[in-house]
Amino acid sequence: MISIKSEHEINMMREASKILIETREALRDMIKPGISTRALDVRAEEVIRSYGAVPSFKDYEGYPASICASINHVVIHGIPNDQEKLKEGDIISIDLGVFYKGYHADSAATFAVGEISNEKAQLMKVTEEALFKGIEMAMPGNHVSDISHAIESYIKPYGYGIVETFTGHGIGRQLHEEPQVLNYGPKGQGPILRPGMTICIEPMVNLGSKNVKVLSDGWTVVTTDKKPSAHAEHMILITQDGHEIMTKKKE
Ligand code: CO
Repeated sequence: MISIKSEHEINMMREASKILIETREALRDMIKPGISTRALDVRAEEVIRSYGAVPSFKDYEGYPASICASINHVVIHGIPNDQEKLKEGDIISIDLGVFYKGYHADSAATFAVGEISNEKAQLMKVTEEALFKGIEMAMPGNHVSDISHAIESYIKPYGYGIVETFTGHGIGRQLHEEPQVLNYGPKGQGPILRPGMTICIEPMVNLGSKNVKVLSDGWTVVTTDKKPSAHAEHMILITQDGHEIMTKKKE
């Protein structure tokens, strides 16, 4: 069952999203060579709690931090730590979740540390563009997999590996709800989108092969060929006539 959110619930999720956006902007300003992923995590938790909210990821199935900080060949779920410091030329994906008054917001973005290679820059750009191609298909009457297909079709010509073992998801009272939102596949499959549904769309795109593995810490997902990976995620509300990108900064 896919939950349909009431106007009140949508407003709570908008509040959670605002806190998430503030947190993302605070972290963006800190992304420079020399900073540890732990420092980003500490700051994120501070900002989130300053609004009376809670980091969604902390203790989620035992996850030990407030954010995921995934550098270069780490695809997702990189655990912040004191040893790992950002270096010029790195790309880092930061995944953030905020739980406020009973509802979650979830979003991720990949950032450049100083000057990065053209190949990393293009990977980041295409990943974000693919997210927006998916978002364009997020409207009432479309099937969930119309999003999936749009993402895959956009990425394919670049020859990148689309990660298949992790997916987007519904969201609301729970961080992960139905439906699953794949980043590949044929269109016209899966549930039909309806106003009031809230979903997270999150392509994870590898410069090389799509193959990934989980490290022995049980969380860190890396590319098996050690090539870099990018991740972009927004939380979307399906509206009467299209969608609202809840976790996007309002211009
Ligand atoms: Co997510």
